Amino acid sequence: AGSLAALADGVRLRVGAAINTDLLGTDATYTALAGSEFSTVTPENSMKWEVVEPQQGTYDWSGGDKLVAFAQAHNQLVRGHNLVWHSQLPKWLTPDGVTTTFTNDQVKAILKKHVIDEATHFKGKIWQWDVVNEAFNDDGTPRQDIWYKAWGGLGYIADAFRWAHQADSKALLFYNDYNIEYTGPKSNAEYAFIKGLKQSGVPIDGVGFQTHLDTQYGFPDLKNNLQRFADLGLKVAETEVDVRTFTKPAPDVNVPASGLAQAAQEAYWMKTLQACLAVRPCISYTAWGISDKNSWVPGVFAGEGAALLWDEGYQPKPQFTDLQDLL
Ligand code: XIL
Repeated sequence: AGSLAALADGVRLRVGAAINTDLLGTDATYTALAGSEFSTVTPENSMKWEVVEPQQGTYDWSGGDKLVAFAQAHNQLVRGHNLVWHSQLPKWLTPDGVTTTFTNDQVKAILKKHVIDEATHFKGKIWQWDVVNEAFNDDGTPRQDIWYKAWGGLGYIADAFRWAHQADSKALLFYNDYNIEYTGPKSNAEYAFIKGLKQSGVPIDGVGFQTHLDTQYGFPDLKNNLQRFADLGLKVAETEVDVRTFTKPAPDVNVPASGLAQAAQEAYWMKTLQACLAVRPCISYTAWGISDKNSWVPGVFAGEGAALLWDEGYQPKPQFTDLQDLL
């Protein structure tokens, strides 16, 4: 039936995966799939702040550069992930991941330098940047992270978009978050906030819907949410798709507990792609990994797994064929 990349090309969509750059060139099967099945790639970790600036003022771009080179060699576009987030921050900035000993003015200067330095390093090589990731709580209130505290509000978001645009005016600049696939306090708060950013002329181009789904929570009204953000004049994307479910006890951590769970996963995967296909400004559809062997899910969600399109032995699962059939 052809690669996902080739099939999606026919409907002018890019299909992607989050890539663990340590496996590129070391795991042959992984590397072959990464290079052949996708038309866009996202670094799973290697452009995050804790990786790129492990000591203050000492940069390590090697993982990000490796991914950019791989993408260029395989005709793929890169989603940069990410510039501003509350998590995976360097220890020198926040030793406990929650607080910092820098003053508010220092924090502001540090964030500005980071956004400009990283966007400048990758200038011209990034298709979409996740400029700000996960700034709201599930109840719709702003996350009280070090950025919110230093600015005394969400003003850091507009600043970050302006700095990113100043450093790389051609990259598409995205706000990215999870659980906004559902209509509720979080997506409503972000809808209102992002509408305000657009109206104030902040250079935001799109909204990324992470789409980390779990079969126990029901399928969200994803299409309606993609559409309402698109109707603000923005592009949208599904940026981190995976569908987890409860699994047999370890060591079968990636085997669904029942045939029903497998069927539910397939239905969810199909609906995520159909939602993107149904909304014109949905420009990319990215899975958060390739194989269950390397998925973040079992390490974070106790008892859950089997979230991706290839199994632990790199065999394509039925949900892979389902996506091929839809494209
Ligand atoms: C995850 C990675 O997959 C893990 O390897 C890492 O240990 C933690 O971060 N939302 C995001 C991603 O925006 O950056 C996260 O990636 C998953 C949730």
